[in-house]
Amino acid sequence: MSFPTARIRVCHIDDVAAGSSLKVEQGGLTLAIFNVGGEFYATDNACTHGPGELSEGELYGDVIECNFHGGQFNVRTGEVVGPPCLVPVKTYKVTVEDGQVFVSI
Ligand code: FES
Repeated sequence: MSFPTARIRVCHIDDVAAGSSLKVEQGGLTLAIFNVGGEFYATDNACTHGPGELSEGELYGDVIECNFHGGQFNVRTGEVVGPPCLVPVKTYKVTVEDGQVFVSI
């Protein structure tokens, strides 16, 4: 059985400067919102490798580097691009309307 997708407002575009990230807790999830040159992406905030929070990491282009052990994920796809992470991070569809950022969960 599948459930309909909910779209939740997570922030305003001005809340996340280009090249940075924001932690948001919405809809029972803790998400990291990334601004990659004006395009917004969302992943689970929790690193799949351990206790790191991706919103606390360093964003290099579309790659987030976890500040705990330096593992890297592509924020567009969630795929692992740098060790020691092995498991991709979940990504969410993001839409922007009237300056508001929405995530489909
Ligand atoms: S907790 Fe993120 S790389 Fe280990």
